[in-house]
Amino acid sequence: MENKKYYIITYGCQMNLHESEKIAGILSSMGYVLAENVKQADVIVFNTCCIRENAEQKAEGNIGALKQLKKNNKNLIVAVGGCMTQQKGYAEKLHKEFPFVDIIFGTHNLENFKVMMEEKAERKKTLIEVEDGNEIIYEGTPKTRSSYPNAWVNIMYGCNNFCTYCIVPYVRGREKSRSPKDILSECESLIKEGYKEITLLGQNVNSYGKNTEYGDFPELLAKVAELDGDFRLRYMTNHPKDLSDKLIDVIKSHDKICKSIHLPIQSGSDKILKAMNRHYTKADYLEKVNKLRAAVPDIAITTDVMVGFPNETEEDFEETFSVMKEVGYAGAFTFIYSRRSGTPAAEMEGQIDEETGKKRIMKLIAYQNAFNRKTSKNYEGKTVRILCEGYDDKKKKYLGRDEYGRMAYFDGTEKVLGNFVDVKIVKAGGISLYGELVKGE
Ligand code: SAH
Ligand code: SF4
Ligand code: F3S
Repeated sequence: MENKKYYIITYGCQMNLHESEKIAGILSSMGYVLAENVKQADVIVFNTCCIRENAEQKAEGNIGALKQLKKNNKNLIVAVGGCMTQQKGYAEKLHKEFPFVDIIFGTHNLENFKVMMEEKAERKKTLIEVEDGNEIIYEGTPKTRSSYPNAWVNIMYGCNNFCTYCIVPYVRGREKSRSPKDILSECESLIKEGYKEITLLGQNVNSYGKNTEYGDFPELLAKVAELDGDFRLRYMTNHPKDLSDKLIDVIKSHDKICKSIHLPIQSGSDKILKAMNRHYTKADYLEKVNKLRAAVPDIAITTDVMVGFPNETEEDFEETFSVMKEVGYAGAFTFIYSRRSGTPAAEMEGQIDEETGKKRIMKLIAYQNAFNRKTSKNYEGKTVRILCEGYDDKKKKYLGRDEYGRMAYFDGTEKVLGNFVDVKIVKAGGISLYGELVKGE
């Protein structure tokens, strides 16, 4: 009788999602296949995020909920990895609270995950391995990619920016860049394998290559964009302070680079930006936006915005709101500031109450939703090039995005999956678009 082994794995942000693809790759190399549900799983991996308190609470709730399952199935392996486990003293706390967790591994120990899994088969004790040692970049970790026709490619790890609210530099360590040779050869293979969209990943891609002989980010981006093949290119995230004219030139002069950029502003108030340690003012930010639009007039700009940072007054918040209105973002991820212990902002006086945070964020969300509905209308009657990413079972339609990141739904046959197609937009429904296939089957 066939004796298959099954795994389930969670993820946090895109970077962490790609790490989940590596963990899945390791598990696949050990004979595991993806489970359809938690009950079927022989190993459950939580690849956690701790950027905000609610992400952490949710993960802890999900881990706690496995206690009974663990009792009923003695062979089930529960592993917890990711950013949460890299916080000071957290691994020990987790072990104490959830002693049934078998493996606790940090973000720098992915390569050891296989060894830990093998070791676990022979030992009962919880294995804990969370270290800082992120000096080495391991190449060649197997990957089981889960987002065809898109592929994530790490270009760098860690962050040196120490925005005062953010835990990432503490749990991810310092910036280190992958070599262009490794990045380019990975991209080349992906294109040969049929991937149609590559997203270069880093906490701050604009500081790629600093303190190395690798060249800078615009040079790397140009090299990837000049590879042969029918694909498009994205990259994230961009720190406004490091967005250079050279990068804008590269975006402008390469068709394969999507006319879309994620440029987190966080706040529109100079006082708050300073307290956040962001190294730019509202005016600096708007100047970069203007330069981008002068070079690539139809570029879609998306952003991250935070409300409720310590000492944010109503006037500070209004500055943020005014930037949102001035820029006209194609999309905005909005967050209420979450106090992360160990960060400088957590120690600041003037923490803002939750109600104020909620009130402010609602105003931003309402504005952005209305703005998206308005810009959606401009699409009606237009034909757009869509990369078909999948099929929506509920809507019974195929779906994909244009280069600006706008989602469109349309009827078609299986042949459209993973291909570029032309879709004529007939109806704008909220932020999403509905259209008819014109060409591409
Ligand atoms: N490196 C990326 C972002 C990583 S985290 C960048 O700098 O753009 C993604 C977003 O989470 C951030 O842009 C920020 O808006 C938000 N974020 C980070 N720390 C947070 C905190 N303590 N509370 C609320 N939101 C936070
Ligand atoms: Fe966090 Fe700032 Fe680094 Fe982004 S750039 S990961 S917000 S410290
Ligand atoms: Fe990503 Fe969350 Fe870590 S945003 S880098 S998984 S803290």
